[in-house]
Amino acid sequence: MNKLPIIFLLTFLLVSCQNKKPAKEIKVVNEVPASFDMYKTSEMAELMRTMLAKNKVLKEQIVNGEDIGHFNEAYLKIHTAKLTDSSDLDETYPAFANHFIKAQKEIFAASEKERAEKFNDVVDACIACHKDRCTGPIPRIEKLRIQ
Ligand code: HEC
Repeated sequence: MNKLPIIFLLTFLLVSCQNKKPAKEIKVVNEVPASFDMYKTSEMAELMRTMLAKNKVLKEQIVNGEDIGHFNEAYLKIHTAKLTDSSDLDETYPAFANHFIKAQKEIFAASEKERAEKFNDVVDACIACHKDRCTGPIPRIEKLRIQ
């Protein structure tokens, strides 16, 4: 988060070897802090990865007619988790989030026969929110669908 120590350190290095190759060192100062930001994973991205992984397991359980356990309360964090880009949290976001939570809960209330259909409603709910803001993962989410 705080880039100051990094900039300070690099500035120090830059000053200390200024006599050698100044042009190259200046380039390093400009680039390092930017790439530091790129590799950070937000709380929301972490939650999304969990939802993708756990829904893959759930899909297998449904397809194989196994016990599916319970709704995962951790998903409720979709309402509050910190995002990489807070502009994704626009006025339509809460409605998409609520719709998704409702659909995910319905899988566990449904009869065994209806589970696959309810599961695919969740896939639709994931994609509905993603279409507006974060299209990259859509092909991976689409793969969850039970055929
Ligand atoms: C209410 C909106 C919404 C819903 C519903 C939603 N997502 Fe997301 N998803 C997002 C946003 C916003 C991000 C970007 C998060 C960030 O980078 O902070 C994201 C990111 C992701 C990512 C990329 C995470 C990464 O590694 O950066 C995956 C994968 C993902 N979502 C899968 C899913 C799956 C699977 C579902 C349904 C089970 C789902 N999403 C439902 C909004 C949503």
